Amino acid sequence: MLHPLKALKRFLPHSLLGRSLLIIVTPLILLQIVSAWIFYDRHWDTITRRLTSAVAGEIASVIDARRNFPGPENQRWLFYSAGANLGLRIAFRGDDILPNQLAEGRDGTLEEQLANALRERVRRPFHLDTLSAAREVRIQVQLPDGVLDVVVDRERLFSSTTYIFVMWMVGTSMVLFAVAMIFMRNQIRPIRRLAAAVDSFGKGRDAPDFKPEGATEIRQAANAFTRMRERIQNAITQRTEMLAGVSHDLRTPLTRMKLQLALLGDRPETEELKYDVVEMEKMVEEYLAFARGESAEKMVESDIAALLAEVVNGARYEDAVITLDASGALTVPLRPNAFKRCIVNLVGNAAAYANRIAIDATRNGEVVSIVVDDDGPGIPEDQREAVFKPFFRLDSSRNRETGGTGLGLAIARDVVRAHGGDLTIEDSPMGGVRARLRLPA
Ligand SMILES: Nc1ncnc2c1ncn2[C@@H]1O[C@H](COP(=O)(O)OP(=O)(O)O)[C@@H](O)[C@H]1O
Ligand SMILES: [Mg+2]
Repeated sequence: MLHPLKALKRFLPHSLLGRSLLIIVTPLILLQIVSAWIFYDRHWDTITRRLTSAVAGEIASVIDARRNFPGPENQRWLFYSAGANLGLRIAFRGDDILPNQLAEGRDGTLEEQLANALRERVRRPFHLDTLSAAREVRIQVQLPDGVLDVVVDRERLFSSTTYIFVMWMVGTSMVLFAVAMIFMRNQIRPIRRLAAAVDSFGKGRDAPDFKPEGATEIRQAANAFTRMRERIQNAITQRTEMLAGVSHDLRTPLTRMKLQLALLGDRPETEELKYDVVEMEKMVEEYLAFARGESAEKMVESDIAALLAEVVNGARYEDAVITLDASGALTVPLRPNAFKRCIVNLVGNAAAYANRIAIDATRNGEVVSIVVDDDGPGIPEDQREAVFKPFFRLDSSRNRETGGTGLGLAIARDVVRAHGGDLTIEDSPMGGVRARLRLPA
């Protein structure tokens, strides 16, 4: 069972525009309904009382005139005059008597007011029918010598300005609503822009045309974001520069060491040392390549299928059999070299530990996902996070054939995250590792 408030929440608008319009419009409509209600209750009451009273007075006059000027000639003239000048269509049924219980049409306030007025002014038994005809009201009055039958237009008893008033109210409300919508839209646009800029920064794309605008609070948020973006960019630049600097500076002593080792000649003690130096050189190269790629490259709209094909065809992976399956619209903004480096690292790993490799790229709405499967030994579940740490290598691969530096996956994940995506390791249906790469499209 849902809490009633929560259930209500589902039907309320989710967007800021919808919500703010609701906040503006709900009180407006409530106010109009309440004021119309109160105003009309009184206005309508007063008007109806006056109109009914006038009609009742006219009927009383007719009755009086008929009594004081008897005779068929006078009556004909009187009824004719009432019809022509007062809009009362009068007939007289001599010797008729109104039944005690006449089926009456009732019409709330109008009926009540008219009955009151007739009681007050005519002071004779009467019957009202306000419902039988749409535009007329029938009043029958019992006189000593018969029944006076009066038909009067409803218009004479009833004010119709209500409809006009309601129409005006609805009309102006709609205009107000439209104006409020336009204004609110303009208020909300800067928030949308800020959200888009934050999102694109998170994906590693830059939004150069972004500038703070809108209400003070939004401007504050936008300024805070701009400063944060600068700090993050500075931190990234500093990190890559330092990495590049350190790697670069390490090259010189390494070259010197290699030279000295060569001078020492082929001795069993130097073998170990030579290997370590080569290993260190590899690391330094890898670092350098990575740092270079990250600092300089720009985001370009790239076709992932083409990049994958390039990687698969470009490098020779010993005896590994690679199948590539890329389908759908796979063009997204990327740093092509960094991205290729990431794929090379993943495919390189798979080729080092397995014989069959399958690469599959698909687009699923706003996400492009690439999986690299292999049939190798796999990575135990409790190590799947650890392998992403720099220099981390599994014990089984500490032999020298697969000789890596332990930086491959760390760099690959770094690249993917800088694009706003993520890289994880799963079980592969082929038996080995499945590296799953998700990128925002
Ligand atoms: N496809 C794979 N199959 C089995 N083990 C893997 C695979 N990919 C990575 N690993 C393990 O994760 C470790 C870290 O990989 P990586 O960061 O690329 O470093 P490196 O390849 O230089 O050893 C590897 O040493 C290896 O033990
Ligand atoms: Mg590797």
